[in-house]
Amino acid sequence: MSIAGSVDMTATVGSVRLKSPVMTASGTSGYGSELGAYMDLDRLGAVVVKSMAVFEWPGNPAPRVCAGPASMINSVGLQGDGIRRWLDRELPQLVEHGATVVASIWGRTPADFEKAAIMLSTAYGIAAIEVNVSCPNVEDRNRMFAHSPDATAGAVRAATQAGLPLWVKLSANVADLLEIAASAIDAGAEGLVLINTLLGMAIDIDKRRYSLGSGPRGGGVSGPAIRPVAVRAVHDVRRANPEVGIVGVGGISRGRHAVEMMMAGADAVEVGTATMLDPRAPMRVQRELKRWCRLHGIRRVADLTSAVSVTSVEGVEGVEGVEGEEGGEDVASSEATGDTYQ
Ligand SMILES: Cc1cc2nc3c(=O)[nH]c(=O)nc-3n(C[C@H](O)[C@H](O)[C@H](O)COP(=O)(O)O)c2cc1C
Repeated sequence: MSIAGSVDMTATVGSVRLKSPVMTASGTSGYGSELGAYMDLDRLGAVVVKSMAVFEWPGNPAPRVCAGPASMINSVGLQGDGIRRWLDRELPQLVEHGATVVASIWGRTPADFEKAAIMLSTAYGIAAIEVNVSCPNVEDRNRMFAHSPDATAGAVRAATQAGLPLWVKLSANVADLLEIAASAIDAGAEGLVLINTLLGMAIDIDKRRYSLGSGPRGGGVSGPAIRPVAVRAVHDVRRANPEVGIVGVGGISRGRHAVEMMMAGADAVEVGTATMLDPRAPMRVQRELKRWCRLHGIRRVADLTSAVSVTSVEGVEGVEGVEGEEGGEDVASSEATGDTYQ
């Protein structure tokens, strides 16, 4: 195997062209510029900022995070100061860093999504809007938008008013993900982001109390434990929608995890919980992904998308040789890098 030669790392999600397929995941690296102390933000595919609403929101009481098996559980509850403040204080810093910015929005009604998207459309420097539909819809008995095809479509249609490229972030906690994905696409999504955290809960048995401040409402599970769920979601949605942009997110902390997600069908990936352990994780994933391509004779990272077949591919150097690349099995590699979650 040769490691010589350059790799074209550009990626495309819908109409958005990125320098690299590796981005941060919403909510796991603040509003963006915080990571500037650890890396050159302009080298990442994009910085996806924490979901914001048109209003301030207090979020849930502490504690907001706890450890789970090969995972963490959070109940941050979308706390934030609102879009106006972000536009005034944070966006200019991200633009100064040269970052490609994807702004994530949430709301409690379709009108909230519309206002949020329109507010962002007046700003300079936003490449796309990520529509986070994993939030309660007050017009539907507080059921999550993401759990209903109609409510998802309503939020997406409302956000199209901004005229910016829309990526819609879906939940895998649904009976029929393909139906929800189709609904988001019909309503105007040019990209789908798969997946948000999975519904979860932890109980402190000694104190006989809920481990998170959100109590009986539980939290969202993220990290290595959810990666196979994300890979499956990306894979199935890709098969049903060969043309849509797909961003895979869930448990990615190494380059080979990104390779797997792309082989499942993703055009790009986001790194979430791993960034909370090591702020440089997105850069590490990007570096390792590039190296993997070089080692395996892949000249364009985009060629990894859907590059999986039932039998291993003959003649394509190393496509079947993912395991062992950076430390063998996941448990071993996470131990080696200190990526333990409990
Ligand atoms: C502490 C925390 C906060 C999060 N906040 C948001 C958010 O504001 N908006 C959103 O769409 N997803 C949010 N997520 C979900 C992540 O973006 C990501 O979809 C999920 O954690 C799975 O990826 P990971 O396993 O790499 O963390 C959050 C996740 C965590 C752990």
